[in-house]
Amino acid sequence: MSKKTFYITTPIYYPSGSLHIGHVYTTTLARTLANFKILCGYDVKMLTGSDEHGQKIEEKANQAGLNPQIYVNERAEEFKDLWKKLEIQYDYFSRTSNKAHMESVSKQFAELFKKGDIVKGTYNGLYSIQDEEFVATAQALKKDGKYYHPLSGHELESVEEESYFFRMSKYSEWWKKYLKENPNFIIPHKIVNELKNNFISKGLEDLSITRSTFSWGIPVKEDKNHVMYVWLDALNNYITALGYKTNDQSDFIKYWSNGDEIVHIVGKEITRFHGIYWPIILESIGLRKPTTILSHGWIITSQGKMSKSKGNVINPLKIIDKYGAEIIKYYFASKMPINNDNVFSEDILKTTYNSDLSNNYGNLLSRTIAMIKQNFDKPVKHIKPIDKTDVELLNEIIEHKNTFINELNNYQISSGLESVMQLGKKLNGYIDITKPWTLKENKERLSQILNNLLNGIYAMTTMLSIVIPKKANQALKILNQKDLSLEKIEDFSKFDETIFGESEILFERMK
Ligand code: MSP
Repeated sequence: MSKKTFYITTPIYYPSGSLHIGHVYTTTLARTLANFKILCGYDVKMLTGSDEHGQKIEEKANQAGLNPQIYVNERAEEFKDLWKKLEIQYDYFSRTSNKAHMESVSKQFAELFKKGDIVKGTYNGLYSIQDEEFVATAQALKKDGKYYHPLSGHELESVEEESYFFRMSKYSEWWKKYLKENPNFIIPHKIVNELKNNFISKGLEDLSITRSTFSWGIPVKEDKNHVMYVWLDALNNYITALGYKTNDQSDFIKYWSNGDEIVHIVGKEITRFHGIYWPIILESIGLRKPTTILSHGWIITSQGKMSKSKGNVINPLKIIDKYGAEIIKYYFASKMPINNDNVFSEDILKTTYNSDLSNNYGNLLSRTIAMIKQNFDKPVKHIKPIDKTDVELLNEIIEHKNTFINELNNYQISSGLESVMQLGKKLNGYIDITKPWTLKENKERLSQILNNLLNGIYAMTTMLSIVIPKKANQALKILNQKDLSLEKIEDFSKFDETIFGESEILFERMK
């Protein structure tokens, strides 16, 4: 039987500045979910990339004295370097200046124009270059006679220009019905109400999709004065990267049209584009919609949201150099629930590392292997438990695995990982209760206890592997098992033939 498919995407990031830890957070969450689905037996594809058109990028390139294409090429390489340093793999690196993408979007534009869902008009209102976003006057913040973006705080400029519009208003009722029928389309649910209150109940406005005052964009073939403005161009990357309307559509058919699950993970400020406009565009061209738009909060610092003007942007390369990739990924995935904004703190990062990875998990592993090596030169075999403490412990292993799967299936990554640490506490508590160091003369009991511990550690390692695959692999070698699998967690005799080599400290305590 062929595997179920899972396609997950990060937003494609603007190459107008360097990436910061906020972007690292999103990409870490995406990779973690991708790894989880692989563990569940899915055929998984992950996309990230760069969103390379628009006024701001054209300006940045001009300032740097570079042709925009050269400028974005350099930034795209920088992005790839960052993901490499973070040890994050992906299957598609999607770039909107890519020819195949541009041609595909042009074809779509032509189709929608013919259908009458794209029409010409005049845009009269406010625009944020920084966010590449038109903002309705009612939504803007007004201060001292000037207008500001309600979320980012960037100053808005008044513009009046000819533009092509996508007739979103036509689909307002369709959208409401779609959300009713697909209540898990946008997660967390609280976001749906925000979107309804802010954009739907006041009447969904048509979306301006072209501009005529700059040239760095996909040219509109139907009208030479216009280039497509970022969102129609950008959102389509998710399907053009799979080959939609290009020479090879096989991935598009497999992972999109006939795919099982499609998840776009996005920061809360761009949920509107993914949650409202994107499904409408897809409906208009007659394509299936993603399964879920997963919206997450921001990483903030103690001085509020990171921004260049505040000077509180945290450079990911610096912290990767200082702490290592996996610790950062573990901290982001486990201690930053997606439903909230979360403060980044190096102190919490260190405490997380010491308490979760070094004490709870790492020590447990090295202590257990050390006790086996001191007391046995044969495998410690599984014995069917009679003792209540043992029965309970083995049940805990299964229950925590189930909670983990359940939480991850609901995209609650931090709660899933919390369940792994709870299991660690149970295993450490089991050592305190059974006191294996007092059982040197009772080899049978000692062997049983150690085997139970090994099974618990294997379960923890398997679950942790979705976020710290490199360390989990080292642990797998120490445990001398072939692979990490969710099914094997319940097979308690997997260590019955296992002899252990030298152990090593996987997580040195951090000062
Ligand atoms: N190019 C658009 C996205 C187009 S997707 C079709 C864009 N790019 S961006 O470079 O501004 O990246 C925005 C994304 O970066 C957010 O949606 C979020 O995923 C991530 N983050 C940026 N700042 C962030 C924080 N401070 N905290 C967490 N994530 C943040 O928007």
